[in-house]
Amino acid sequence: MSQPFRIGIAGLGTVGAGVVKILQKNAESIEKRAGRPIEIVAVSARNKSRDRGVDLSSYDWVDHTPDLAAYEGIDAIVEVIGGSEGTAADLVRASLKNARHVVTANKALLAHDGYELAQLADEKGACLMYEAAVAGGVPIIKALREGLAANEIKSIYGILNGTCNYILTTMRQTGRDFNDVLKEAQAAGYAEADPAFDIDGIDAAHKLCILAAIAFGVKPDFDSLTIEGIRHINSTDIAYATEFGYRIKLLGVARRENGKILQVMEPCLVPIESPMGIIDDVYNAVYVEGDFVETPLFTGKGAGQGPTASSVVADLIDLARGHRLPAFGIPAKELKDAVWADPGETVNSYYLRLMVIDRAGVIADVSAILRDQNISIEGLVQRGRAPGQPVPVIITTHETRHADMAAACDLIEKLDCCVEKPRLMVIEEL
Ligand SMILES: NC(=O)c1ccc[n+]([C@@H]2O[C@H](COP(=O)([O-])OP(=O)(O)OC[C@H]3O[C@@H](n4cnc5c(N)ncnc54)[C@H](OP(=O)(O)O)[C@@H]3O)[C@@H](O)[C@H]2O)c1
Repeated sequence: MSQPFRIGIAGLGTVGAGVVKILQKNAESIEKRAGRPIEIVAVSARNKSRDRGVDLSSYDWVDHTPDLAAYEGIDAIVEVIGGSEGTAADLVRASLKNARHVVTANKALLAHDGYELAQLADEKGACLMYEAAVAGGVPIIKALREGLAANEIKSIYGILNGTCNYILTTMRQTGRDFNDVLKEAQAAGYAEADPAFDIDGIDAAHKLCILAAIAFGVKPDFDSLTIEGIRHINSTDIAYATEFGYRIKLLGVARRENGKILQVMEPCLVPIESPMGIIDDVYNAVYVEGDFVETPLFTGKGAGQGPTASSVVADLIDLARGHRLPAFGIPAKELKDAVWADPGETVNSYYLRLMVIDRAGVIADVSAILRDQNISIEGLVQRGRAPGQPVPVIITTHETRHADMAAACDLIEKLDCCVEKPRLMVIEEL
């Protein structure tokens, strides 16, 4: 029999325990696919006595997690602790320095330090694998690095955070407001006690940054991303979007624009029947435009024990087979510093929601501001009458420069009839 592929696992929470479960349950088929058994040698987490629902009795327990990096007789480290700093980051660095392969689900670490880690891996002849870091169980990293490698990628659109997609879907289906649905998502375990990373778009932006690096051959650069979350979306926006034929999605967009690359994570309107419009609940999706493949769509569960651990184990099988690839698909030294596009210069159609006092002349004032900023109105809706009271006015525009829309919003907000900050969202006609 071939030598086993021997691993150490750091982190035995949702994902780590899932990896143990899969390796135990599917050992036979995994061995056939990998060409040799995958053997867990050592495991580590904070609390040795915690029941994790898996039998760990035949593995060495490592009290001091960083010691795994140099643990004898290990081919690869699985890092499923999380966090861009601290033990997880130290362990990944030390393991690569020791020429150990690393499999991780840690998107925060990759988005911030992916370039440096990819360089280190290349220098040491080790592999840095992270299928589980983006879109959980959806094999989008393999698809981009390998399956679509023949193409020049023009753009990527992604729904990359299941919590946000669940909240937006539930708001639409029930007509309830954001805070109410967020509380329910927390109670159901779909959202963290501190949900900021999810609902402010940070988690999804980490993933977009990784996808953009692979797709465009550039160094991952999280700080260059424009990020807006979903806290301000209300049920009025969702109802009007539906009336206009759209869904609201927290959408990651990475695309080539005039020799530059745009990276934006923000709530957008997408047509109801479009590839992104049909993705509901906790599902993730990535829509890719390649010059020859056209527009494949990848979708599935973006989080949870089974899907995420499934991707970790797929990376382990690749490594056990001897499959080797640079972290971002090309050698780290070939990754370029991207020239990032200025989101203010991008041209899109827009959805604009105003809350304005219902009185004569208001629409004329708003229209004059839009005209002066060169903005052409595609549609305008004001439902109901409430003289002297605030009412929503929804405007959709033809293609407009973002900077002009932003300037118009600033001017409209200063009108004395305007009682709320205007809400602006891009319409992506996918
Ligand atoms: N959960 C998902 O659906 C999902 C999806 C995609 C990616 N990910 C990523 O996968 C990684 C793990 O997520 P998770 O959901 O499995 O997290 P989790 O359930 O909170 O588990 C974290 C594990 O790390 C251990 N740990 C924490 N700090 C440690 C330290 N300083 N030293 C040693 N061990 C430490 C914990 O030990 P104790 O158990 O002893 O406390 C726990 O076993 C993260 O990078 C996350 O972003 C998760």
